[in-house]
Amino acid sequence: MSFVFPVHFSLLLFTTSFPLTIGVSLYEKVQLLETSYADIKEVLECKVLNLETKVIALEAKIAALEEKAEHQESVLTTLQNEQENTTPMAPDSVEIDHPIVKNNPIFRTCYEMNEANPLLDSGMYWIDPDGKGIGDDAFTVYCNMTSGSTLIFHDTEPKTDVGHCAGRGCYSRKVNYGASNRQVAALIALSEECQQSITYDCISAPLQFNGVDFSWWDDKNGEPQYFWSGNNKSIHTCQCGIDRNCVESHITCNCDSIFQKPLTDSGTITDKNILPIMRLNFGRTMENSSSGLYTLGPLECGGKLETKQLPSSCEDLWRIGHVFSGFYSVMGEKFVETLHCDFSRRPDQQSKQRKSISFAIFYEQNGA
Ligand SMILES: *[C@@H]1O[C@H](CO)[C@@H](O)[C@H](O)[C@H]1NC(C)=O
Ligand SMILES: *[C@@H]1O[C@H](CO)[C@@H](O)[C@H](O)[C@H]1NC(C)=O
Ligand SMILES: *[C@@H]1O[C@H](CO)[C@@H](O)[C@H](O)[C@H]1NC(C)=O
Repeated sequence: MSFVFPVHFSLLLFTTSFPLTIGVSLYEKVQLLETSYADIKEVLECKVLNLETKVIALEAKIAALEEKAEHQESVLTTLQNEQENTTPMAPDSVEIDHPIVKNNPIFRTCYEMNEANPLLDSGMYWIDPDGKGIGDDAFTVYCNMTSGSTLIFHDTEPKTDVGHCAGRGCYSRKVNYGASNRQVAALIALSEECQQSITYDCISAPLQFNGVDFSWWDDKNGEPQYFWSGNNKSIHTCQCGIDRNCVESHITCNCDSIFQKPLTDSGTITDKNILPIMRLNFGRTMENSSSGLYTLGPLECGGKLETKQLPSSCEDLWRIGHVFSGFYSVMGEKFVETLHCDFSRRPDQQSKQRKSISFAIFYEQNGA
């Protein structure tokens, strides 16, 4: 409002310098100015009041927001505390004990790392099975340096309840690994042996009932498998079936028993050509008394598949550790031959017909 006065005053000065003949109109003008001054004052006061109201409203809003933020912060802190207090899953717990060694050179497998440096402790390490600088990026695994084995974890580690459902495979869950399919396949191809454990804690939840398979797992090719231990693809069995010590003599899995009591089938799949387990399917848990809980272990691979004699294919060369695409001399059927090996090709980009001269390991695995 302060600027109103100078305006008023200067106008007054300006008008008084006019000749007297317009004296009357001068008086009117002053009156007019006074009225407009009152009007302006009123408008401005009204605006100020409005603004003050707005400021008060905004201050209230800010206070409310601050309160909300504080509440959310406390929720976050509670959640963080809860997470810290819950028992971490296998990969987390091992990670805590053994922080990832970042400066260690990246090997293709834990076995090779262990060979190169026997003093390294077990823990989380980066590996790159399909070769450094080609294919997919390195990823972290748990290296058991006692056994020289590599463990790839997945998103289905904790014991999981199947719940109640009736049909064949009415419960189904895909397993996602902490590495690409190509990297998993490469690790398996480089390893002497691979295995994966699976346990099913059951009450009135048969894997097979009246000759019908209600539960199975999908192998790496998506094929259903009904064996829960060992490597015999053609039979429905669990470890007790192999050991011939199931709770009933005529059954091959404890869970297939008609006894309504807690039972367990625990086994290890050892056929590396069809690992890892890509999906789990369970069924026939519809009774009120039924209960089915499964526990799937990490994929564990160990040893080193040695190349016998001289390399005779791109696959052999890759196993030895070659990563640079180009021409190589290999032992043919009778003579030394020159092959062009493309180590960079992904499985989905491979041309199958020119198998012998491309990096065909991911297709040849079943035949190998
Ligand atoms: C590492 O391997 C050894 C020997 O096979 C085994 O006794 C031990 O339990 C393994 N440790 C882990 C954490 O898997
Ligand atoms: C699988 O089991 C069947 C039936 O017991 C048996 O005849 C066969 O020889 C087994 N195959 C292997 C590879 O052990
Ligand atoms: C299963 O439980 C439900 C709810 O508790 C009950 O209504 C039903 O009768 C039970 N069924 C059997 C077969 O026991």
